[in-house]
Amino acid sequence: MIAIIGITFSCSQSMDYTNPDLSPETRAELLLNELTIEEKVGQMCQYVGINHMKVAEGNMTQEEMRNSDAHGFYQDIHSSDVEEMVKQGKIGSFLHIDDAHEVNHLQKLAMQSKHKIPLLIAIDAIHGHGFYAPGATIFPTEIGMASGWDTSLSRKIAEVTAKEMRATGYHWTFSPNIEISRDPRWGRVGETFGEDPLVASQHGVAMIKGYQGNLSEQNNVLACAKHFVAGGDPVNGLNFSPMDVSERRLKEIYFPPFEAAVNAGVATFMAAHNEVNGMPCHANKYLLQDVLRDEWNFEGFVVSDWTDIARLHTTHRIAPTLKDADRLAIEAGINVHMHGPGFYDEVIELVKEGSISEERIDEMVRPILMYKFMLGVFEQPFADTNKAKSVLLTNEHIELALHSARKSIVLLENKNGILPLSKNIDRVFVSGPNSNNQTILGDWAKPQPDDNVITVLEGLKAVSPNTQFDYFDCKGIFEISDKVIQEAVQQAKKANIAILVVGENSLRHTDDKTCGENQVRPDIALAGNQEKLIKAIHQAGIPVIVVLVNGRPLALEWISENIPAVIESWEPGLQGGRAIAEVVFGDYNPGGRLPITFSRSVGHITEYYNHRPSMYFRKYVVGSTGPLYTFGYGLSYTSFEYSNLKFKQEITSGDDLNITVNIKNIGGYEGDEVVMIYLKDEYSSVTTPVKKLVAFTRVGLKPGEDKEVDLIIHAKDMSLYNEKLIQTIEPGAFKIIVGDDKLDGSFMVK
Ligand code: GLC
Repeated sequence: MIAIIGITFSCSQSMDYTNPDLSPETRAELLLNELTIEEKVGQMCQYVGINHMKVAEGNMTQEEMRNSDAHGFYQDIHSSDVEEMVKQGKIGSFLHIDDAHEVNHLQKLAMQSKHKIPLLIAIDAIHGHGFYAPGATIFPTEIGMASGWDTSLSRKIAEVTAKEMRATGYHWTFSPNIEISRDPRWGRVGETFGEDPLVASQHGVAMIKGYQGNLSEQNNVLACAKHFVAGGDPVNGLNFSPMDVSERRLKEIYFPPFEAAVNAGVATFMAAHNEVNGMPCHANKYLLQDVLRDEWNFEGFVVSDWTDIARLHTTHRIAPTLKDADRLAIEAGINVHMHGPGFYDEVIELVKEGSISEERIDEMVRPILMYKFMLGVFEQPFADTNKAKSVLLTNEHIELALHSARKSIVLLENKNGILPLSKNIDRVFVSGPNSNNQTILGDWAKPQPDDNVITVLEGLKAVSPNTQFDYFDCKGIFEISDKVIQEAVQQAKKANIAILVVGENSLRHTDDKTCGENQVRPDIALAGNQEKLIKAIHQAGIPVIVVLVNGRPLALEWISENIPAVIESWEPGLQGGRAIAEVVFGDYNPGGRLPITFSRSVGHITEYYNHRPSMYFRKYVVGSTGPLYTFGYGLSYTSFEYSNLKFKQEITSGDDLNITVNIKNIGGYEGDEVVMIYLKDEYSSVTTPVKKLVAFTRVGLKPGEDKEVDLIIHAKDMSLYNEKLIQTIEPGAFKIIVGDDKLDGSFMVK
C-alpha cells in the first residue's frame, strides 16, 4: 500500500502545475483545469502601473478621489483598488511600470492570490529599455537600425534590451514595430524599419530572436509583432485612420514581415488601431483567425492596443455596447485587453449568459499561461534590484550603442568633399534646436540622466578638443524668431564653419513635439523657422553643415541644392552625439543607406522605390517628378567598384539562385558598402515592381581591399501573386540589378 501511495503521491506531485520539470504546455493545461472562470478572465486583463495611478490621484484617498473631479487614471478606480484586484487574481499583466521596485510590489501582491500566478510586466522597450525610469541603454530607433543594414546589430540591440529588462523584472516588450511605413507625415516612421518588406522582415526577425532567444533563460523576454496590420501607411498620414487596401497590397507589402515574425516564433502580436477594409483589426476574424492562426499557424497570444477594444464601441461603432465590443474582440482572437476596467466583469457576464463559451476563454488563456511558464516567472517573479545595477548601462552596452549609432548615419550631401572636417579647424559655430539636448533619443524614452547622454555639442567637443565651438542656444523648434536668427548670424560670422543640428522633436515628455506617436504633420518641411535659420547663415557666406535629428523623412530640396554637407542621423540614441561628431571629423566613415524614400515635398507623397512601371509615366508640369533621395541612397568618404557578377544563367522554377560579386574600395578611406541585390521580372501576367530588393549585406573594406560577396536570391522572392492572388513563379527572364545599377545581368527561370 505504501509503495502504491508512494507512487501515487510522487505521480500526483509530479503532475502538479508547480512542477518545473513538466513542459510549459503541460503545466498550462494542469493550471487551466484548476482555475475558475474568474481567474481565467483575470489572466486576460492588463492594467497600467500603480505609480501612474498614484500620480493621477495625488494623495487622495479612495473616498476623496471618488468624490472629486480628478477621477484618477481610471475613472473611479483608486490604486488601492487595483492592488486588491491583483490579490484576487483579477489582473494578469501590467504595462508602463516605472521601475523594479514597483514590479516587485505588484508581484508580491500576486503571490497572495489563490494560485499565485505571477504577473507579466510589459513595456515598450522599442530601441532599448527607454521607459525604465532610472535609466538604461538607449539605442538608435528602428529606422536608424534599418539605415545600418546590419541585422546582426539589430539582434544584439534586442539581446541587450532583453537582458536589461529581465534584470529589472520586465518580461514582455511591445516590439518590434514591423509595419511598412511609406507616408512621412505619420509620426511613427522612426519606430519602423521603413518601406521595404524584406528589410522589415529581416530586422524584425533579428530583433525577435534577440529579445526571445531561448525563452527559458533569465535574459529573454516575449517579443510582440506590431501593429497588425497596415497602420503604418495611414490615410493622410493620420495615425489610426481607416485603411482600405487591396488583398494584393496586403499580401505583397504589409503581410510579409508579420508572416516572417510568426515563422521566427514571435510570442505575441498586437492588433492595429485602424480598420482594414471595413473591419477594425481588433474585431477582424480574417486577420486574427484566418490569416494569423489558420494560415500562418501562430500559437502565441494577441494583445489589444491601448483601449482599442472599447473603441470598437466608442470610435469604430461596430459594437452598440462595451460588452459587445469585448465579445467581438474575443471572438476575433484578442487574448489580452490593454488596459483597465470595462472588460473583466463584462466578459464573465458574457460567459455566464452563454454568449462566449468557457472553451473560447480557455483558448485565449492557455497561451498566456504557457508563456508565463516558458519565461520561468513562476519560479522567479521578482527583480533582483541589486543585480539590476550591474546589468544596465555596462561599458559593453554603451559600446554597442555607439557602434550601432555610427552604422545608422547616412551621408546625404558632401559637395566638394567639405567633409570630413580637419581637427585643426579653429572655430566652429554650433546651433539648432537639436544640437545640445536629448532629442537624439527619439520616442519611447523617458528623460535620461544627463551623464548618460552625449549630445551633439558634447560629442563635437570630445572628438575635436582643440577646436573652439561657439554654441548658440536657439532654444526649441518653435522659438527660432527673426531676432534669434539675427543674433545667430552675428555669432556665426566669427567662425570658420557652422554646424546646424535641426529636424524634429520626438521626445515623449516634452510639449513641443513634432514627431513620434500621434505627432502627425500635414507637411514634411522642417517645422518652424529652422530652414530660415539655415538660409540666413548660408546667405551670410558661412559654409554650413546640416545635421538632421529626426524621426521621419523630411522635404529638403532647397537644403540639398544649396548646403554643402547634410548628415542624416535619425535618432541615434545615448551615444548619438559622439557618433555624429566622429562622422563630421572623419573618425568614422558613414556607410548607412536610406531604408525609406525622401520626397521633395508633401505634395509628392506617397512615393516608394518598388513602384509599378507606370508610376512616373507622366510628369508634373511644375517642379521635379520623383523623389529627392531614393530608397538605398547614401554617400561615403570613399568609393567602391563592383565587378565579377556571377550567377547561373538558367534555373528551374523553385530553385534559389546563388550570386557572387566583387566589391573593391578604390578610395582613401576605410568604409562600409551596403551591397543590395534587386530583382526585376521582365514580363509577368500581372504588373510587378520596377525592382524589388531580394538580398543585402553590409561589407567593411580597407582602402584597396577587394572582397567577393556571396548572396542568395530565394525562390520565394521570384514569385508573384497572379490575377487570382495565387502565389506562383512564372517562367521567363529576370533581371538582377546590383545596387543603384552598379552592375546587372539576366537569368531565365524554366
Ligand atoms: C500605444 C501604441 C502601442 C504601444 C501601446 C502601449 O497606443 O500604439 O504601440 O505598445 O500604446 O504603450
